[in-house]
Order: sequence, then C-alpha cells, then structure tokens
Amino acid sequence: MSQAHYTVDGEVAVITLDNPPVNGLGHALRSGIVDGLDKAQADTNIKAIVLIGSPKAYSGGADIREFNTAKATAEPMLRTVIRALDDCVKPVVAAIGGVAMGGGLELALGCHYRVAAPGAQIALPEVNLGILPGAGGTQRLPRVLGVEAALNMIVSGKPVPSEQFKGTALLDELVEGDLLAGALAFARKVVADKLPLKRIRDMKLEYPNAEAFFQFSRNTVAAVAKNLPAPLKCVDAVAAAVSKSFEDGLAFERECFLYLVGTPESKALRHAFFGERTASKIADVPDDTPKRKVEQVAIIGAGTMGSGIAMNFLSAGIPVTLLEMKQEALDKGLATLRKNYEGQLKKGKLTQDKLDMLMTLLKPTLSYDDLKDADLIIEAVFEDIGVKEQVFKKLDEVAKPGAILASNTSTLDLNKIAGFTKRPQDVIGLHFFSPANVMKLLEVVRGAATGKDVLATVMQVAKKIKKTAVVSGVCDGFIGNRMIEQYSRQAMFLLDEGASPQQVDAALEKFGFAMGPFRMSDLAGNDIGWAIRKRRYVEQPNVLYSKVADKLCELGRFGQKTGAGWYRYEPGGRDALPDPVVDELIVNYRKEIGITPRQISSDEIVERCVYALVNEGARILEEGIAQRASDIDMVYLTGYGFPLHRGGPMLYADIVGLYNVVRAAEKFAANPHGDAAFWQPAPLLAKLAAEGKTFN
Ligand SMILES: NC(=O)c1ccc[n+]([C@@H]2O[C@H](COP(=O)([O-])OP(=O)(O)OC[C@H]3O[C@@H](n4cnc5c(N)ncnc54)[C@H](O)[C@@H]3O)[C@@H](O)[C@H]2O)c1
Repeated sequence: MSQAHYTVDGEVAVITLDNPPVNGLGHALRSGIVDGLDKAQADTNIKAIVLIGSPKAYSGGADIREFNTAKATAEPMLRTVIRALDDCVKPVVAAIGGVAMGGGLELALGCHYRVAAPGAQIALPEVNLGILPGAGGTQRLPRVLGVEAALNMIVSGKPVPSEQFKGTALLDELVEGDLLAGALAFARKVVADKLPLKRIRDMKLEYPNAEAFFQFSRNTVAAVAKNLPAPLKCVDAVAAAVSKSFEDGLAFERECFLYLVGTPESKALRHAFFGERTASKIADVPDDTPKRKVEQVAIIGAGTMGSGIAMNFLSAGIPVTLLEMKQEALDKGLATLRKNYEGQLKKGKLTQDKLDMLMTLLKPTLSYDDLKDADLIIEAVFEDIGVKEQVFKKLDEVAKPGAILASNTSTLDLNKIAGFTKRPQDVIGLHFFSPANVMKLLEVVRGAATGKDVLATVMQVAKKIKKTAVVSGVCDGFIGNRMIEQYSRQAMFLLDEGASPQQVDAALEKFGFAMGPFRMSDLAGNDIGWAIRKRRYVEQPNVLYSKVADKLCELGRFGQKTGAGWYRYEPGGRDALPDPVVDELIVNYRKEIGITPRQISSDEIVERCVYALVNEGARILEEGIAQRASDIDMVYLTGYGFPLHRGGPMLYADIVGLYNVVRAAEKFAANPHGDAAFWQPAPLLAKLAAEGKTFN
C-alpha cells in the first residue's frame, strides 16, 4: 500500500505522507511521493501541489527500520525524490508540522515553497550520527538561511522552532490554525499571483571574506569536536556551497558523506544510537507485556545513592517516600538532595517554583507504615547481606501485593535477596550508578524468578526517568563491574611490570577514556576496591591480584577524600599530582615480588586494559548475563566513560578485528606477570575470530 496518499482539492493536489510514527522516508514513502508528483504533473487540472505529513511529523528523516536493508538504497533514493521535486513544473508547497528533521528537512528544501505550523522542530541532526546531511542539506540550507545560521544548525544538529525562521527564505509563511487549510490557501495564492517556481538550487550564495570565516569556524569546531571527524566535514561542505556551483557542491557533499559513513567514529555513533533503542528490548518479554502501574515510589536509605535515586523520580514528577532509620541520617540525605537541586537552580536549569514543587513530592519518613501505598520500593541501604535481609523481610510484611521490590546492590546475590521474601517474582535489581541523579546507566538485574511484567514495567519506568536501562543476569558485579575488575587488575599488573600510574592513565585518556583507572579510583575511593579484594582473597583464592593497591590503602591513601591516593591532592584541589611516595611504594613492591621493571608502551597499556574488558565481555555474553554485545557497549558508554567515538569495548574489538584481539590475548597469556589463565581467549571470542565474525 502506498504510504503517500494522493487527493485533490480543486486545482491543488495534496500528497499526504503516511508512514507512522514519524514519516520516516522509507522506500514505499519515497516511491509514493514520486508517483504523486507524476500524477499531479500529468493532470492538466492541477495547478499546484501540497506535500504534507501528520500533525506530529512532516518527516523525521530516514526510516531507521530500513537501515542496513536493500530498501534503504533502492531507487527512488531521497536524492532522486528531491530532484523530482526540484524539477517539478508545478509549484510544490511543503506544509511542515511537528518535525522536519534530517532527510525530512532536505525534502522540504527540495520544494519550491514552505509553510509551517508554529512550534515545528526543524533540524539537520546527522552530525550526531557522525555523518552530514547527504541529500543537499549542506548546499540548500545556507542558500535560505545564510552561511552562519546554516553552519550552526548543521554542526550542532540542534532543532530550531519554526517561528525563528520567520523572514528567512526557509519559511514563506507561518500558519496559525489548520495547517492543511493554510497550505492550500498559500498554494492557491501562488497560482493566482503566478508566482515563479522558487528553486533553492538557483539561489545565489555570496559571502564576503568566506575563507577567513571558514578558517575561524574550523578552528572553533576542531576544538570542540575532539575525536570526531564529522563536524569539520560539515564546515567543508558548507564552504563548498559558497565556493562551488550547486551541482559541484552537491557532488562534494556526497563525497564527504560517503567518507564519513565509512569512518569508525560514525560506525560508533550509529552503534550507540541503535544500541540505546535495542537495549530496551528483552527477547522473551514482548512489547505488549502488561505493565504494573508505578505512581508512587519509596526509597529506603537516604545515603549517597538513595538521595540521588530519589531525585530521578521527583524530577519526573513521581512522588517519593524516603525512609531512613534515624532522623539524623534522614536530615543529611534531604540536605544533600536539596543542595543538588539548588546547584541546578544556580545554573539556571531549574526555577525556584519548580524546586518548591519538586520538594512537595517528597515525603521523608522513619516509619515503614508510610510505604504501604508504594508501587515501587527501591532499597539503597548498606551493602551488607544481613542488613538487606532485615529490610526485605520487613518489606515483605508491609508492601502492598503487586508492589515491585528493587535492590540497588552492586555486589550481592539478587536471588538470595529475593529469597528473603515470599514474593521473589516481584523482586528485581535496579543498579544505579553514582551520582545517581546524573549517570545515564541503569543496570536492571533480572533474578531467576523476576516476573516478566516486573521487567517490562521497570524498563518503561527507566525511560520515564531518562535512564539507559540494560538488562543483566545475576552474577558477581553484573555486566559493568565484573568487566571493570579485569580492567583494573591489568592496570595494577602494569604497575608491577614497570609502568607508573600517570603513564597508564595518560595512555587510556589518550585512547579517549574520560579518566584513566588510577585517577578514577582516587575519585571513587580506593577503599571500595580494597574491600572487594579482601572478600575475593577468601572467596576466590585462585584469582591473581597485584597487592600494590593494598599497600597503598594500608597507608590510608583512599584517594581524593583523604587528600592522597595514587596521586596527591592539594587541600581542596582535585588536580591529580604525581607523588614520589607512590613511586617509591611501587618500586619497593616490585623488589618484593622480584620483578625487574621494563619499558611498557602506550599501545600495550591500552590493549591489555581494553582487551581485558573484551575478553570478560565475551564470557558475559556467552553465559547469557548480557543479552547482546551492544548492551555491553551501552553499559560502558553510559556508565564507565568509555569513549563514545569508539562505540564501546565490543564494537571496538569488532573494528580492530577479533582475530587481532585473540592474537594479542595469546601474546599476553605468555607474559608470566599478566595472568595467563585470564588471557585464554573466551570460547566465544575464539570461535567468532576463527569464523571471521564479529560480536555485533
Ligand atoms: N556508592 C556507590 O557508588 C554505589 C553505586 C551503585 C550501587 N551502590 C549500592 O547502593 C547501596 C547504598 O550505597 P550508598 O553508597 O548509598 O551507601 P551509604 O552508606 O551512603 O547510604 C546507606 C544509607 O542507608 C541507611 N540505612 C542503612 N540501613 C538501613 C535500614 N535498615 N533502613 C533504612 N536505612 C538504612 C544508612 O543510614 C545510610 O544513610 C549499596 O547496596 C551499594 O552497594 C552504591
């Protein structure tokens, strides 16, 4: 069935785009538009054409459901459709409501006239996917908006409301009221006044001092774009709109587009874009699984995590009851929460009225009686199985039937926690990351008995509180922390073998991590890892650890909070300063374990730390703890500062080539100090590498 409906209103033909939800420009829709244009041109009674979408969307651009299918590149391609519009001998009026984004805006720019509803969001967001508009956007937008405004939109990818285009050649009329009626009236006026066909391609684009301006833009953009090539290519393409003829400019745009599509950075950004959407899908939990209502939330524990978690729900307009054991702890939690909101107020991200409103949604309490109406209860008390047992037994008594009982535990066995209740089907892990009001990642831990409706419900709730939710099975550390442990283990071994903390941090920061492992550990607190290791020494005595970090902790160097860790910190300062005390500690430890230090290259540092993530990630995937490789990547991109332009550890491994990862692992396995057992390639990694396949 055609997705572009053709109707006639007097002497105007109306082509209505109909490919919900956003009129993605899939093959059927593209074909339908061309058919409609042909029909209108063949009918001598038709004098003008209106191209309109739904009130929600004129068009959101390419149909992402067709990505990587033959349909995406089947003719008529978008460029062909736009050429057909451009060449049409009868005036075509685009009627823009809702959104005109990416290819959707390029489609509108192919029309001879444009009218829009107020508030319609207009954008060329391709840069966010590491590409640039590939259907004339970089050549036409400057012709209607001028070079500077167009460049801003193309480089930032940000939407601009239609009102702001008043008085520019992008918008001929803002239509208050019914958009179709307004567009029809406008089309009739074009016919009656015999207005010429306004083809953007024929508009002259002049810009005095263009070279100086573009050089300045390149410098500014390069400073912000860091590792991403697309923003600079956007500048080049807009510059070509000034320096070249329209056709040559189009050809140059195409060249840049094809180049960018092939870059690893664009692959990474597209992977993250799709990975985010895919992560919300659970193989055996269909989209139509009934959800429970979540209108009231309760949180137990108002410490670091509890107060941050509460903010997520309050900010989403969901009332929260916050429970503590003692008034003092409750007051402290409330003070932290208020301070965080006041910080937002100072930055202008929140108004005083809104803050006051949010605080009315919060009900502090010391009594479990106040939890009886809660639909979702999240426990964030001390990480101690005895304390969790007490809390969950109590919850089993007071929570209403059907309430979802969640734990924010980082390391404890969720199935054991569920077993403290008589309703394990209602128990789930919601592993927020610190600071919980800021970090995007939410690991949703699926227990052996967790109900499908509980899972479906929390995935929906996660969207409401704007988190990227990734499902993890139950295991020590879940996806993220289980992998990071291998990464930090390698980082420590590197110290034993000859590297310094600054060298390891610098190599990984150059790779693109927001912070290297030692600066990170100083920030999070070295005592956290110490506590975990002490447990491991008892529970898993066979796992090898460098003891260098224990020596550091024995000196009370827990990181920023104690003024010293792997680095030293000036009072009140956050700058990590190298410390000879640490160098000496490392030298002494090497002597103690009999290692003669060697020079270690940045490449080895990056490979050992990143491939450690990959090898453990492969095990996690094989065990079914993660549903798919892209879920692991989402965990790392949104929770662990893995460089976005690398697309996550698993995609990075795919791009490097799994064969090369396996070879490196085998080389590391031959190193007597790097844990040979760990470096045996995970069976899944070995298998995929042998078959020439990838994780993603
Ligand atoms: N801090 C992190 O980075 C982080 C990250 C993810 C998950 N977690 C997990 O979140 C949980 C809480 O960690 P945190 O860092 O917020 O700890 P925290 O010590 O800052 O806060 C715990 C709070 O719980 C309260 N509490 C303890 N027992 C209680 C009880 N029986 N009833 C009511 N309140 C009680 C304490 O008074 C304290 O205010 C732990 O399970 C931890 O593993 C922590």
